[in-house]
Amino acid sequence: MVDSMFEGVMERPKAVVLDQAMLQDPSGPVVREPSDANAVIRVEDVHRYYDLGETRVHALRGVSLAVERGGFVAIMGSSGSGKSTLMNMLGCLDRPSSGRYLLEGTDVSKLEKAELAVIRNRKIGFVFQGFNLLARTTALENTALPTLYTPIDKEERARRAAEALAMVGLANRADHYPSQMSGGQQQRVAIARALVNRPAILFADEPTGNLDSRTAVEIMDIFQTLNDGGLTVVMVTHEPDVAQFAKRVIVFRDGKIRKDECVSARPRASDVLKTLPTLDD
Ligand SMILES: Nc1ncnc2c1ncn2[C@@H]1O[C@H](COP(=O)(O)OP(=O)(O)OP(=O)(O)O)[C@@H](O)[C@H]1O
Ligand SMILES: [Mg+2]
Repeated sequence: MVDSMFEGVMERPKAVVLDQAMLQDPSGPVVREPSDANAVIRVEDVHRYYDLGETRVHALRGVSLAVERGGFVAIMGSSGSGKSTLMNMLGCLDRPSSGRYLLEGTDVSKLEKAELAVIRNRKIGFVFQGFNLLARTTALENTALPTLYTPIDKEERARRAAEALAMVGLANRADHYPSQMSGGQQQRVAIARALVNRPAILFADEPTGNLDSRTAVEIMDIFQTLNDGGLTVVMVTHEPDVAQFAKRVIVFRDGKIRKDECVSARPRASDVLKTLPTLDD
């Protein structure tokens, strides 16, 4: 059952319709909306209000957006522009106040919390800012946490956690506690944890915040490799250099999308790494 979702991560890259269209477009990198059949995420005129007593914060003001399967989107914008609000909704941690959110064609905008939790567990990996690892728990156990809510047995859990750690290059750190790892390694454990249930989409809110620039590019290398394998990736970043590793950049301002463009000369993180000095491990 779950295996079918993971296949996408291991498969060879599929042709992405959006990119094909762009290559033939002489007028430049303007985003074309994917067709319904190809959209894994479809957001339609979403608003999100936060009511605080007398005042109401209008965090999302009519956002419409579609992301194709195999897309890699970077979301940018100044502080308070609504990026995390959108990510939390896309990650099924929150619901819109109005408008619709279709995830793989299913309208999830009206689902109850428990139903959202089920969808989240099956389809979504979420990397939170600041790692969010449990301190007294090893890398392997931290990675395995989301599997506790699935029906798989203990051995399979350990096997999948080891597999996810290997995918982020941390097979040799399985028994380390967070305090025994660098910031970049902790972030990689957080990514492994987001991958362990073999999601169709990976959401990451500032996955390279607080990391040095080489480590940030290493994280982008992992994301590009996963994306090449078919995983859809949506991340928030404040850094234009990091956003350039995505296929598409969306800029938010005041709760609205102000810019939505494809990245024309996208660097490969693996190439950039070759030009950066290595730090001692
Ligand atoms: N739980 C909440 N209750 C009330 N207001 C909120 C809540 N969460 C966010 N907001 C408000 O909604 C707006 C958008 O916040 P959001 O966290 O989405 O911004 P952001 O773009 O992620 O900013 P940053 O780059 O600083 O992380 C802000 O004005 C914020 O103060
Ligand atoms: Mg935020």
